[in-house]
Amino acid sequence: MLEDGHGRRFYYLRLSVTDVCNFRCDYCLPDGYRASHNLPDLSVAEASTVMRAFAQLGTRKVRLSGGEPSLRKDLPELILAAAKTPGIRRVAVTSNGYKLPGVIDAWQQNGLDQLNISIDSLDAAEFARITGHDCLPKILTGIDRALELGVQTKVNAVLLSDGAQPRLQQFLGWLKTTPVTLRFIELMQTGDNRDYFASNHLRGADIESQLIENGWQLLPRPIDAGPAREYVHPDYAGRIGLITPYSKDFCNSCNRLRISAQGKLHLCLFSDAGLDLRETIRTSDADALAEKVRALIGNKEVSHYLQQGNTGGTQNLSIIGG
Ligand code: GTP
Ligand code: 5AD
Ligand code: SF4
Repeated sequence: MLEDGHGRRFYYLRLSVTDVCNFRCDYCLPDGYRASHNLPDLSVAEASTVMRAFAQLGTRKVRLSGGEPSLRKDLPELILAAAKTPGIRRVAVTSNGYKLPGVIDAWQQNGLDQLNISIDSLDAAEFARITGHDCLPKILTGIDRALELGVQTKVNAVLLSDGAQPRLQQFLGWLKTTPVTLRFIELMQTGDNRDYFASNHLRGADIESQLIENGWQLLPRPIDAGPAREYVHPDYAGRIGLITPYSKDFCNSCNRLRISAQGKLHLCLFSDAGLDLRETIRTSDADALAEKVRALIGNKEVSHYLQQGNTGGTQNLSIIGG
């Protein structure tokens, strides 16, 4: 099992399969995707080598992320490759949901267990303003289908200060009958969004106290929990999670590592510019790659230092896969 110098173990790999995205979220890619390199994304065979190497090191869950992973036509094959990797028990995808109704059946058949979809507002016009795409109803249809198929589904909503209360009320109305976990994420500062962050950041702690006042109860934290703290309420079918890197530090229980679509190892969402493993991935086997990763784990920082305004080498989250 892979362990760093701070006693943290890494059972969870986030593998970005492309940095390309078709959305233009205000806080991420407001001007749309622009290529910053001319390297191809890792192929299915290369991604399989990565997953086998991490499985040897103790990884039990793989999340395929992006950019927008569904822009890759071979995403179903990548899901299948993840599901077939010996040792991998959970296969997850994070997507903007743009293609969901047409693809979710194939993803589920190929082994998808968990799906996270980004919806920052349930108001269709506001959703279109934030993302640059007027397609909220289609995404909601896709979520209904995922739930029908038994795929565990979470929705991510970035907390934005302007209009936060009406958005919260609309989300709460939806959660009464919809069995998803809605996670509010504190807007994080990146290299590209400094001004936007300064005028739109909202503390998750304020929303959290409001939920507690209204009868939401914190669930005990599972031993393998991610950064979200989860709340339930007897009158609601859905749950609420909070991912609050500013209000509350969760780095001491960090359990994840990231590989970018260009084959860089990112030890944290916000520390390094990525350690290039592309050549090893292309030319070596899983054993050699696993040894390289083991040798690099000692470089993992104790925290992201976001509270100090340090965004590391992270220009936006589409490059690194969130
Ligand atoms: P599960 O717990 O597996 O459902 O997923 P997740 O919450 O890790 O995945 P998702 O792709 O939905 O990520 C949601 C967002 O949480 C990410 O894009 C980040 O914004 C944030 N997040 C996830 N992991 C970390 C982390 O290690 N550090 C920080 N600061 N934020 C994180
Ligand atoms: N701060 C917080 N969350 C972000 N995401 C993208 N960029 C940021 C940011 N700067 C979210 C997306 C998606 C998830 C993978 O990360 O909205 O839900
Ligand atoms: Fe929006 Fe995610 Fe695309 Fe960034 S990568 S523009 S957050 S959908």
